[in-house]
Amino acid sequence: MELRITCIPGDGIGPEIVAEAKKVLDAVAVKYGHVMHYTDILMGGASIDVHGVPLTEEAVKTAKSADAVLMGSIGGDTTTSPWYKLPPNLRPEAGLLGIRKALNLFANLRPAVLYEELAGACPLKEEISAAGFDMMIMRELTGGLYFGERKTVEENGIRKAIDTLTYDENEIRRIAIKGFDIARKRRKKVTSVDKANVLDSSRLWRKVVEEVAEDYPDVTLEHMLVDNCAMQLVKDPAQFDVILTENMFGDILSDEASMVTGSIGMLASASLNDTKFGLYEPSHGSAPDIAGQDIANPIATVLSASMMLRYSFDLDQEADAIDHAVKSVLQAGYRTADIMSEGCERVGCRRMGDLLAERI
Ligand code: IPM
Ligand code: MG
Repeated sequence: MELRITCIPGDGIGPEIVAEAKKVLDAVAVKYGHVMHYTDILMGGASIDVHGVPLTEEAVKTAKSADAVLMGSIGGDTTTSPWYKLPPNLRPEAGLLGIRKALNLFANLRPAVLYEELAGACPLKEEISAAGFDMMIMRELTGGLYFGERKTVEENGIRKAIDTLTYDENEIRRIAIKGFDIARKRRKKVTSVDKANVLDSSRLWRKVVEEVAEDYPDVTLEHMLVDNCAMQLVKDPAQFDVILTENMFGDILSDEASMVTGSIGMLASASLNDTKFGLYEPSHGSAPDIAGQDIANPIATVLSASMMLRYSFDLDQEADAIDHAVKSVLQAGYRTADIMSEGCERVGCRRMGDLLAERI
């Protein structure tokens, strides 16, 4: 099979981790007889430096013409980087929001899994972590506060800022359907998270999710308020299978969920539209403080490449091969700095990529 993949190395550790993911994908191509066609585009700070904007129309066109996009990370140090002296719509993050919208990537899947081999890094009490957990956060990605009208005005000498949180029923329905579809392939439970005791948008969210649930009698639906969910994630994470939520809540809860795994350098993500097309990226950021030192953990990007093979190309066997390679490397005791523990062998980004590619 020929796979046309647009790559966004991006900023910070992005180029290093994408290089290792390509290395692993190339090993998959050799073993299973596929051909990978990579085209790189610039986004974020890297694009600002060359084009003055974080995302060009040309880059969007290239991304659209591929079957899938594999991304590293974008952005820099917000206090020291000159990118953050630019107006908000020209900063690196605007590139990411722009490509999400341009490609209609409304469904963001963020798995948060406690790896047995890394359970020691989980910050929760042992009696909680012992139960293990494996949840999928499904975050709506192209609506809500992120894309509502916003402005800052001055009225009678008082500065005032306005952000609007808007959802229509179609936006809610399509992410809910994806959430239930995915729950069906997992443990068949959806926890829909909202703030229905305060927000109209959440009350509509709840109604529409309930309507969608009628088509999935085999899936259990529960509703949870977002503040309670934040608490439950540290109290009893094992209770969650699929967490279905709007954009802003999903942004916050997915960071919390990844932190409790103790290994954010291990977590992948996928952003999907209505077709097989998707953008795949690690859940972590660009870590500018360790960029270029060959110490970043490429595993989250490698696992994002695995999600890409699974969701955009239906190559389950190949994706399994990558997931097994990750397990095998961890079992053999190899660790990058972020997940290092006593008795293990510390390796750099490139060596980790080699070890994973060898195991395909
Ligand atoms: C994420 C990030 C982005 C978001 C930022 C970089 C705009 O935090 O992907 O979670 O808030 O969506
Ligand atoms: Mg975030």
